[in-house]
Amino acid sequence: MTIKKVGVLGCGLMGSGIAQVSATAGFDVISLEVDEKFIERGFAGIRKSLAKLAEKGKLNEPVDAILARLKGTTRKEDLADCDIIVEAIIENLAEKRKMFAAIDPIVKPSAIFASNTSSISITETMTATRRADRFVGLHFFNPVPLMNLVEVARTIVTSPEVLETVIAFGKKLGKTPVRTNDMPGFIVNRLLVPYLMDAIRAFEEGVGSVSDIDASMKLGCGYPMGPFTLLDFVGLDTTYYISIVMFDEFKEKRFASPSLLKRMVLAGWHGKKSGKGFYDWSDPAAPAPQDAALRGL
Ligand code: 3HC
Repeated sequence: MTIKKVGVLGCGLMGSGIAQVSATAGFDVISLEVDEKFIERGFAGIRKSLAKLAEKGKLNEPVDAILARLKGTTRKEDLADCDIIVEAIIENLAEKRKMFAAIDPIVKPSAIFASNTSSISITETMTATRRADRFVGLHFFNPVPLMNLVEVARTIVTSPEVLETVIAFGKKLGKTPVRTNDMPGFIVNRLLVPYLMDAIRAFEEGVGSVSDIDASMKLGCGYPMGPFTLLDFVGLDTTYYISIVMFDEFKEKRFASPSLLKRMVLAGWHGKKSGKGFYDWSDPAAPAPQDAALRGL
């Protein structure tokens, strides 16, 4: 099975990152969005990221040569001859099933379907198609161009040949693929989500301030970011949603969302992208911890 052309569903933060690394690795890429303006926004991010990587001498060819392999479309028919489809649309099972059901009759039967979901069941998504044996989870990490891991999740019906093809694809993207089974959170979020939830609980209980807890994990454990910076970076809404799916599956407190996280999400404090989370990001170079507002009395 040879992969030459990659279709990416969704051109948001993750989708545009996946399109970027695929084009950089030499694949022809087509990104599907519902509206031209989302393609424009995603591609602007790609151009910026590629320029940064070029500046640091991390690309093997000129940016324009990479961009030439990248196309955007709003027509599902344009995905027909793709060899692999990587879905990175909204984290919502019904929406994912609807999208896969719509493209299944259009994309050639030999193509592999992959979902970049962080927590939604691959098994439940794949049954919207007639190619359950050619369906995997392919979970990238943010920021996609910089993070070297990709999780490849098999279901009980995934064909071994498909799994190996996707592992090889992950390697061609310059990532280190790890194998995992289709269980909510796969490997990384199984361990990361309880850690992030515990950091919020520790803050709620007054163990330490936002910046001291962050500094502790950065300097004491060598993590590149403390838990609150990472939460703001990943998105509080995204993390909250993942915790709900994982708690629903495992019914264990370690996956349960603390009250504070829910209240922040309801208030629209979604982290860096919304301007406010555990930090105020008005000045991204000097994020201001929000202890006073969050802990109040
Ligand atoms: N493309 C190109 N360059 C980028 C970039 C991108 N998308 N994003 C950042 N950079 C650049 C920055 O501009 C910066 O450039 P500069 O040196 O010229 O200023 C450079 O990369 C390094 O960035 P930083 O100065 O912020 O320094 P770091 O050394 O901290 O590196 C990091 C950034 C790699 C993001 C690092 O902080 C890190 O590893 N953080 C943890 C990220 C993480 O854990 N991600 C996983 C989240 S979980 C997830 O995604 C799963 C989901 O299911 C929840």
